Amino acid sequence: MNSSVPIKLKAEGIKKYFYTHEGQIVRAVENITLEVREGEFIALLGPSGCGKSTFLYMVAGFELSTEGELYLDGDPITGPSPNRGIVFQEYVLFPWRTVRKNIEFGLEIQGADKVSRAERSGELIGLVGLKGFEDAYPHTLSGGMQQRVAIARALAYDPSVLLMDEPFGALDAQTRRRLINDLVKIHEATHKTTMFVTHSVEEAIGLSDRIFLFSCRPSSIKEVIEVTIPRPRELTSDDFIELQRTILRSLNEEVEKIVIGPCPF
Ligand SMILES: Nc1ncnc2c1ncn2[C@@H]1O[C@H](COP(=O)(O)OP(=O)(O)OP(=O)(O)O)[C@@H](O)[C@H]1O
Ligand SMILES: [Mg+2]
Repeated sequence: MNSSVPIKLKAEGIKKYFYTHEGQIVRAVENITLEVREGEFIALLGPSGCGKSTFLYMVAGFELSTEGELYLDGDPITGPSPNRGIVFQEYVLFPWRTVRKNIEFGLEIQGADKVSRAERSGELIGLVGLKGFEDAYPHTLSGGMQQRVAIARALAYDPSVLLMDEPFGALDAQTRRRLINDLVKIHEATHKTTMFVTHSVEEAIGLSDRIFLFSCRPSSIKEVIEVTIPRPRELTSDDFIELQRTILRSLNEEVEKIVIGPCPF
């Protein structure tokens, strides 16, 4: 990416060890150093258990690093803040609130007035393709629609970055592809800097400007892959399939290390 674009997020030598009740150390993340520029869409791809969620939760401020520093807009990350919008795999909407009220929740907490809340939620409902469902309750929506609400809710207070942890992981393949295409459009419309955790090479290529491929645990960044295929990306195109094969080979090397034995450290 153009180096004149400001750096949004910076990780320097991030290490995260967990200490279990039995006194054992789990070395989750060993050394993550990266920079994300304003407006970039980044995928964090890696084998299960390599520390992708752990890293994302440190960016969210839910976990503190054991070593290393994280910066957002030049300021150290020291805890959670509304300047990071988050979407999880599980549907975590408020069941007693309508679509509109779910989206407006954060704005209510911030004390935004009714008119500006309605304006903002209306905009976002249009952006995520939920016009006509403003007054529906979550249990009446499909999983894909619920995740659209979750995306709109995360964008509502115009966070500095959008953090997504396998948001489409529980959806069927067709719905997932549709949401990938729509997320590409949402990103084109908002230019929101996004960090998206996934196991799926297809998702990572479909969405990202760059893919950070994590090694097996304790993780570092094995490769940074720039995806230059023009959007919208057709998953049956030769370029897509070729890149998918290359990344899968590299990812599988890491997955196999887990099956054979612990990652050397
Ligand atoms: N609170 C915790 N206490 C102890 N160990 C933890 C804790 N949270 C995560 N871990 C361990 O850290 C490692 C990384 O976990 P993490 O959930 O970040 O992996 P992941 O890459 O997101 O995996 P997946 O793709 O399966 O979601 C795992 O070995 C996990 O068991
Ligand atoms: Mg995870």
